[in-house]
Amino acid sequence: MIEAVKKQDATILVIFGAVGDLGKRKLGPAVYNLFLDNWLPDNFILLGVSHHEHDDHSFKNLMRESIDTFSRSGKADEEKWEKFSSCIKYFRADFTKDGSFQDLNEELVAIEKNWNKSANRIFYLSVSPRFIDPISVNLSASGLASNKKKARIVVEKPFGKDLESAQKLNKSLMKCFEESQIYRIDHYLGKETVQNILAFRFANAIFEPLWNRNYIESIQITVAENVGVEHRGNYYDTSGALRDMIQNHLLQLLCMVAMEPPITYIADDIRNRKVDVLNAIRKYTADEVDDYAVRGQYSEGNIKGKEVLGYRESPRVDPESNTETFVALKLLINNWRWKGVPFYLRTGKSMKHKTSSIAIEFKPVSHQLFPCNISHNSTTNLLIINIQPEMGIKIFFQAKEPGLEMLVKPVEMSFDYSNSYENDPPEAYETLLLDVMEGDATLFMRADEVEAAWSLIMPILRKWESDKAKSFPNYAAGGWGPQESIDLLKANKHKWLIDKLLE
Ligand code: BG6
Repeated sequence: MIEAVKKQDATILVIFGAVGDLGKRKLGPAVYNLFLDNWLPDNFILLGVSHHEHDDHSFKNLMRESIDTFSRSGKADEEKWEKFSSCIKYFRADFTKDGSFQDLNEELVAIEKNWNKSANRIFYLSVSPRFIDPISVNLSASGLASNKKKARIVVEKPFGKDLESAQKLNKSLMKCFEESQIYRIDHYLGKETVQNILAFRFANAIFEPLWNRNYIESIQITVAENVGVEHRGNYYDTSGALRDMIQNHLLQLLCMVAMEPPITYIADDIRNRKVDVLNAIRKYTADEVDDYAVRGQYSEGNIKGKEVLGYRESPRVDPESNTETFVALKLLINNWRWKGVPFYLRTGKSMKHKTSSIAIEFKPVSHQLFPCNISHNSTTNLLIINIQPEMGIKIFFQAKEPGLEMLVKPVEMSFDYSNSYENDPPEAYETLLLDVMEGDATLFMRADEVEAAWSLIMPILRKWESDKAKSFPNYAAGGWGPQESIDLLKANKHKWLIDKLLE
C-alpha cells in the first residue's frame, strides 16, 4: 500500500446522480480505492444524491455491488468495506426544487457539527446536462456553496453541445461560482499515460530539442474503440464522434503534445500554454472542411470474430441517422514550433482494435549514406506514446542487423508500465477526485479552454449538420474507418502508422 500524504481537510463529497452509470462504474470504485490507498482524510463522507428511492442501507449495497464489479482492486475486503461504508450516506432529492437544497444544507451542517469543523464541500455533478444549471443555481441560492474557499463544483462532459451552449453554461456557472471553484472534467487528463506526456517532454533534456518542425514530419493521434455505441444510442445519436471525442479528449491530447514548456507545474501556467495551442490551430472555413475533415459511420461487420450490428441498427438510434461514429482531421498549428507539421487526429467506434496512441514520425536523415539495398526502405524514426490499453513509450530507430553484411533495419526500444512498475496505476477518476479534494485544477479544463476547443470545431460541426452524409454507412465495423481517412494522409505521402504496428 502506498504511504499517502493526506493533505486535504475534512471533506464531504456530494455526488449528484450517484446511482447513475458513471457513479457506479467509476466514481464509487475510485473513492473506494482512494480509501484503500489511504488518501482520504479522517473526516470524510461520500453523500450520494439522486431522486431514486434509496436509503443509506440500500445505497451502500449498491456501492458495494459496483465496487465488487468494477474496482481495479477487485472485490471489497470485508473488514475494509466495513470501515469504508461507515463514510457513505444517501440523500434523496429533486434537483430542481429549492426545498431539497435547504434540506441538503441542513444535512451537511449536521455532519460538520458532528466533526466540530467546517469541511471542504465538493459537489460532483454526474447528471444529465439539463440539470447542471438548476443544481448550480440552487447550490448557490441555498447557501450550500457560500464558502468560496471550501466549496467546489465538478462538472462532467458533455460541456455544452456547441460553442454557444458552452458559453451559456460557463456564464451561468460563473454567476454562482468563481472559476477557481469550477472543475470541468475531461477524464483523459487523469490517465496516467497522458500525464506522463508532460514528464516525458519536460523532465528530459534529450527530446525537447527535437520537438519541432525541423525534426518532426507528422503527429498522429488515434483513439480507436472496438465497441459500438452499445446502450448509449440515445445520447450518442445527438452527439457524434466530433463532439463526444474530438472536442475534448483528442484536442486535449494534442495540446499536451504541442504546448510550449510552461514555466511551472501550476494549473494556470499549464492551461495558458494549452489555450495558446488551441488558439494557434488554423480554423477551417466551410469550403475547406471537406479537404481537412473526414466523417464515417459504421455498418455491420465483424470485430474479433464476432458479428456486430451496424450503427443505424443499434438500439435507440435513428435508422437514417446522419451521426458520425468516426472522424479523421488534419489540423495545422500556426506557430513557430509547428508551422507546416500536420497533426492528424482520428477516432472511431467499432474499429479493428482498441487503442489510444500518439505516433510521432520524425523526418528522414538529411543525407542517405547507406545505399537502399542495405538500408530498410524507411529511415525515419518513430516514437509511439501508448496511452491504452498498452501503456508505455516506444522508439523505433535504425540499427545494423548482426551478420557479415551491412544490413540496416528498424529496431524497437521500449518502456512498458507493466514491466517497469509493480503496482497498477490509479484510474483516471482516482487522480481527478483527489486533485479536486486537494484543490489542484491542473488536470481540469478552464472556461476559455473549453470554448477555444468548441470554436475550433464549430465550422466542421455546422457543415456536417447542414450537409447530410450521402455515403453513410461508409466503413464496416472491425476496420480502420473509411477509405477517405487513408486518402486524407496520402496527399502528404503519409499513412496511419499505428495500424501496421497493431496488425
Ligand atoms: C467518453 C465518451 O468520454 O469516453 C465515450 O463519451 C467513450 O463515447 C469514452 O467510449 C472513452 O473513454 P476511455 O477511457 O474508455 O478511452
